[in-house]
Amino acid sequence: MNAPLEAKSALVTGAASGIGRAGAMAFAAKGARVLVADVNDEGAAETVALIEASGGEAAAVHCDVTDEAQVEAMVATAVSRFGGLDLAWNNAGRAMAQAPIHEMTLERWQASVEVNLTSVFLCLKHEVRHMLEAGGGCIVNTASGAARVPAPGRSPYSASKRGVVGLTAHAAQDYLKAGIRVNAVLPGLIDTPPVRANLGSTTIEKMAPILPLGRMGDPAEVADLAVWLCTDEARFVNGQAIVVDGGGILA
Ligand SMILES: NC(=O)c1ccc[n+]([C@@H]2O[C@H](COP(=O)([O-])OP(=O)(O)OC[C@H]3O[C@@H](n4cnc5c(N)ncnc54)[C@H](O)[C@@H]3O)[C@@H](O)[C@H]2O)c1
Repeated sequence: MNAPLEAKSALVTGAASGIGRAGAMAFAAKGARVLVADVNDEGAAETVALIEASGGEAAAVHCDVTDEAQVEAMVATAVSRFGGLDLAWNNAGRAMAQAPIHEMTLERWQASVEVNLTSVFLCLKHEVRHMLEAGGGCIVNTASGAARVPAPGRSPYSASKRGVVGLTAHAAQDYLKAGIRVNAVLPGLIDTPPVRANLGSTTIEKMAPILPLGRMGDPAEVADLAVWLCTDEARFVNGQAIVVDGGGILA
């Protein structure tokens, strides 16, 4: 087995579904022990079962990434369960119901910013605290193509994801001397349950001609990039926001 991450401990948030599940599986396939973090306990347990069925090692933890105490406990669980935390993918996020800015309530704005941006700050804070003590690590944050090309009616989502790109660049600068690399992935349209639910198959078929390769991305195609960013092959890549959309339309 090609196991460049053997003996590494990794955590992935939002790993009960979609891109995060693919990420947890990809980290495990490269030899890492993986903490599967999500608010969806059932889905997290399924991800763990999928990893174990492939011969990998994983454990699930319930974590709402908008709650600092739960984020702190998630990092502590990785450390106690796997003896440390080398790699983290802060991926959990949610594109919420749409409304133009003049009809957006403050509550909806704040809820979106909390789950898509504040969550990444909280995860970074507690992961970095451990990695500073341990002497290094590697972190990936999930932003979105919406950070570059605004998603209509989703101002808090677009603004939050642009914030994730800024926070990523900032964190990379803050900790580069400490041996901690921080990068962001910006997926295009990826075939995950919320996308299927929001768009419906007819809309997806109609969109196909304007998608770069005529199809949505597979979650594994984002996961492969995030995992590569956590390998030594990416040792000179830091503070970057990398689009993964099959064709550069979001560049
Ligand atoms: N699918 C796409 O086309 C696409 C495109 C760009 C960016 N993204 C981003 O990719 C990430 C994953 O999205 P996905 O499409 O795989 O969606 P998904 O719904 O399949 O997975 C997201 C997971 O995050 C979890 N989650 C939501 N809120 C949480 C919270 N507060 N605490 C912990 N876990 C929480 C959900 O339970 C779910 O398991 C998100 O950050 C999303 O914004 C997705």
